Amino acid sequence: MPGPTPPESEGFIVWLEGLPGAGKTTLSSEVGARLKEAGWKVEVLDGDEVRRMFSPELGFTRKDRELHARRVSYVSRMLARNGVAVLVAMITPYETSRQAARAEVGTTRFTEVWLRCPLEVCQRRDPKGIYRQTEQGLVKRMTGVDDPFEEPLNPDLVLDTSSEPAATSAQKLYDHLTQSGQLVHAQ
Ligand SMILES: Nc1ncnc2c1ncn2[C@@H]1O[C@H](COP(=O)(O)OP(=O)(O)OP(=O)(O)O)[C@@H](O)[C@H]1O
Ligand SMILES: [Mg+2]
Repeated sequence: MPGPTPPESEGFIVWLEGLPGAGKTTLSSEVGARLKEAGWKVEVLDGDEVRRMFSPELGFTRKDRELHARRVSYVSRMLARNGVAVLVAMITPYETSRQAARAEVGTTRFTEVWLRCPLEVCQRRDPKGIYRQTEQGLVKRMTGVDDPFEEPLNPDLVLDTSSEPAATSAQKLYDHLTQSGQLVHAQ
């Protein structure tokens, strides 16, 4: 005999994109913590760690970056359809990857957020020292320096992370998720 039908639970995906140092990790962790407090199951798929696990064989050519983004969007969708609030923190330099992710997931449960921050500010922050390493010639194909970051054409939300504190950006993102109806299935 089948048991009772479990309550419907559908998650959603927040895809945070922007230059290295724009604030993707910072905001995904702040907003992730708030979503947990609100009762959501949360997974953060954060750039470097996910890359090490999913795509250790891939480099940073356009083809490789696009393939990696496809893998991440596929897994994000699996998590989201099982009730998880998924925060993706990934540079995502190409518009094709953003569109593919949105198409994979469907439009209503996908929020694309561009963390707009000038290169000079990101370079000054340099939270991982990667810009310094690029200057020293130790890193090639660095987004924003010798590899492109295409301006997002269709983000659902733009946060100017150079001009406001992280807490303000996090609040704006949380408010956007509330207003756009993403949080209605919270258990
Ligand atoms: N409004 C803001 N939103 C997010 N981060 C901010 C903001 N203002 C200042 N910061 C600071 O900018 C830095 C952003 O670093 P963070 O590691 O989050 O960037 P990232 O986008 O994840 O970079 P990477 O692509 O290299 O992983 C942090 O030190 C954070 O405190
Ligand atoms: Mg990061």
